[in-house]
Amino acid sequence: MGAIQLVDVEKWFGDVQVIKGINLGIRDGELIIFVGPSGCGKSTLLRMIAGLEETSRGQILLDSNDVTDKVPSERELSMVFQSYALYPHLSVGENMGFALKTAGRSKAEITEKVRDAARVLKLEDYLDRRPKELSGGQRQRVAIGRAIVRKPKGFLFDEPLSNLDAALRVDMRFEIARLHKTLETTMIYVTHDQVEAMTLADRIVVLKDGEIMQVGTPRQLYESPDNLFVAQFIGSPKMNVVPCSTSGDTFVLQDHGTGPLGHPARQTAVQLGVRPEHISIVAKGQGHCAGIVEVSEYLGADYFHYINCGSLGLLTVRASGASDEIEGQTVGLHFDQNRLHFFDPDGTVL
Ligand SMILES: Nc1ncnc2c1ncn2[C@@H]1O[C@H](COP(=O)(O)OP(=O)(O)O)[C@@H](O)[C@H]1O
Ligand SMILES: [Mg+2]
Repeated sequence: MGAIQLVDVEKWFGDVQVIKGINLGIRDGELIIFVGPSGCGKSTLLRMIAGLEETSRGQILLDSNDVTDKVPSERELSMVFQSYALYPHLSVGENMGFALKTAGRSKAEITEKVRDAARVLKLEDYLDRRPKELSGGQRQRVAIGRAIVRKPKGFLFDEPLSNLDAALRVDMRFEIARLHKTLETTMIYVTHDQVEAMTLADRIVVLKDGEIMQVGTPRQLYESPDNLFVAQFIGSPKMNVVPCSTSGDTFVLQDHGTGPLGHPARQTAVQLGVRPEHISIVAKGQGHCAGIVEVSEYLGADYFHYINCGSLGLLTVRASGASDEIEGQTVGLHFDQNRLHFFDPDGTVL
């Protein structure tokens, strides 16, 4: 079992508070991603769960047991870092079994556990090699193997793929998803990359300045962001946000068109959010607003059109790669009225 509960957790470095009262329940076997911009407190929170960083206030529970004041070795959690820190003079097998050896386990047990982990990680043919004879991706797998052999209640990953090149990152992302399916063990995974978060997570925790902005499945965060921060952090290219005002049950875009608010409570909306894939290009004079296509990026399957809409700013529109070239043209933009997000002056969704 590996259920983790954070209760009013705070971290202060001197008189600077970097974790500001986090409440979060992680279910046994769940793959949870902490995502947020650099410096928001992801690593600190993960290290607090690992026991590598003291918790200033609040409680951390592992399977309902209070582990807040326990040292890392008593928490049964394994941490995998961004830098693999393998012993260069030991073989892959010896690196993977090192923690078990220092814990005084028998040779037979170590051999068996290392072999099991090597099978899961497809490292069976590499057990006798030294780390320098491996690729970056293989080294990262050895680092994960070192964590697996300890059969922890949970794995803690801190940006484990950020040292790898883009292609290898995609491969390793797949490996980690498969590993999670195979082991069915709780994993907490920290990244600043929202694509990594979206593709891997059962649930994503979006952090900003030491606070949780929203917790939800990738789909919940994409379809129903609670606030402007999450709306613009999740999704690539970013959600378009334009100023708007309201008149009765209608939204009004200054110097442009109007449309239905769709909900009578949305009276105080001051900003309208719409994702690039929820805008369609229509003939000039039609749709909710108009603009000039300044730049079109062709990516094969998709076009990203960057459209200057005057007082509304530059809007990004995603269109099929098979659609017409429109760079330089004046076009109308139609917003899918079922996919609009309205925000109040504080940036809270309405
Ligand atoms: N040992 C420390 N002493 C003082 N401040 C720290 C220490 N470790 C981290 N911080 C600060 O805490 C904040 C969160 O850092 P960190 O958890 O590393 O962010 P992230 O992993 O999200 O990039 C940052 O402002 C960082 O400067
Ligand atoms: Mg970090």
